[in-house]
Order: sequence, then C-alpha cells, then structure tokens
Amino acid sequence: MTTIHDLAAWKAAGRRFAMLTAYDYTSARLLDAAGIPVLLVGDSAGMLMLGHPTTVPVTLDEMLVFCRAVARAATSALLVGDLPFGSYQASPDAAVEAAVRMLKEGGMHAVKLEGGQPVTPLVRRLVAAGIPVMAHVGLTPQSVHALGGFRVQGRDATSARRILADCYDLEAAGAFSVVLEAVPADLAATITGRLRIPTIGIGAGAGCDGQVLVYHDMLGLTTGRRPRFVKDYGGLGDAVIAAATRYRQEVEEGVFPGPEHTYGATPAVEGAPYGAS
Ligand code: KIV
Repeated sequence: MTTIHDLAAWKAAGRRFAMLTAYDYTSARLLDAAGIPVLLVGDSAGMLMLGHPTTVPVTLDEMLVFCRAVARAATSALLVGDLPFGSYQASPDAAVEAAVRMLKEGGMHAVKLEGGQPVTPLVRRLVAAGIPVMAHVGLTPQSVHALGGFRVQGRDATSARRILADCYDLEAAGAFSVVLEAVPADLAATITGRLRIPTIGIGAGAGCDGQVLVYHDMLGLTTGRRPRFVKDYGGLGDAVIAAATRYRQEVEEGVFPGPEHTYGATPAVEGAPYGAS
C-alpha cells in the first residue's frame, strides 16, 4: 500500500507519480487496478457527482458517502479525503473533528485542505493529532467567490511570492505534500525545487513531483469547455453517448434482447408456471 513516506522517498529519488480523483466504488476499483498510487476523494464530487456549480455546497456527510465507497474498493492506493468548505474553517477543533470523521468513518488515510498561511495552525493541529495533511494552494476552488472566478494564480510577483511563502509555511506546519493548482509552470517548478515535500500539480506544468487530474476530465466524460490543463485520455463521453444511442435504437427496433440474452424455454410442468416444483 502506498504511504505518505513513499511519496517523500519518490520525491527524493526524482520519481514522478500520478494522483486521480475517485468518488465511487466501481471507478476506484478500476483506478486501483491501473496502479494509480494516490486517490483523492475530491470535493469536486460536489460538481461532478451532485451537479453543483462549484465545490462550495458539498457537505461533510456527503463527502463521507463518497469516501466510504472508494475505501471499500481500493487495495493499494493512498486515500486522501478532501475536507469540504465549512468543515474546517471555523477552528482547529472543527478541523480535527472533520478530519477524524474522514479517517474513522470514511476510511481515508489522509485529508486535504485548501489555503496558505491562514490554515497553517489547522495543519499543525491535525498533524499533531496524527492526521496526515495534503495542502492545496494557488487556485483554491472553495474560495472561488473571493477569487472572483476560476483564474490562474501567481501571475504577478506579489502573488507568486505569497504562494511560495504559503508553501514554506505549510511544509513547516507538517503538511506531507502540496497541490499547486493553476499557477505558472516556472513558479511551480521553483516551489518544487525549494520544498522538501512533494508538489502535485494541476495546471502547474511538468516541473511538479506529481500530477493530479479529475477522473471525469481524464476520461473525457465532462462536456463543455475544459480548462487548458485537461488531457482527455479516454474519449468516454462520446463512447457513452454512442453506446446508449445504440441500446435505445436496438430496444426500439426489437433487436435487443436477442436469443443469446434470453433464458431458454420453460419446462411445461402442469399447474406450476416457470418450472417451479
Ligand atoms: O477536488 C478536487 O478534485 C481537487 C483537485 C482538483 C486537486 O481538489
């Protein structure tokens, strides 16, 4: 099973690694079989599984349902549960309470939370309680309303310096890794070179120690305009539409079910329908 110590060793050895989001049992089994070493039950579940416009509305109880499903499936991946908006901001006590539920009820091995210097006391407290913490800076979707939209961060010197300072503080607070979302590649590479803990990029270029993509994006299941950093490895959105269209047509035309999908003749047993004795 992958542990946070493996990630540290991989960074030291210059070995890159992949992380993907997972929200349900079936998908998590497939990703585990593919050898994905880190599965993130991301709060993007609020958008992709529940249809919310942002990650803000998803609740801790909803996240725990997704976490439990993934934990039932995964045999070797490190499982990271995203603490949803509102579950940790109020106080370090609230953060510990939410994180403990993620581990005890959700079967996660670690939690992720968003933010820089303001959340370092929470990180410190969680780590002291024995809970591994993955940090997340740059574009932090839970703050979408404060940021004014899903925008690239760290484009000017002041904000780049702030993100770097955040990373130093999060590392000092005990985070075992940090997600860098939607930041320029040169900034991400600089941060990666200066930190001892692994960086995991999404829209942060090739210079990070690891990469993360959202499951639905990676498989091409999402529709509409995709962010520049998304690569579609599956084209599955089109495949699903084609399969469902063919199924619908075959049902309408009486082609499905065919004889090969149909049980054989019922033995005629007098007075006992369907072969029951
Ligand atoms: O919730 C999520 O999917 C995430 C990733 C984008 C890192 O936080």
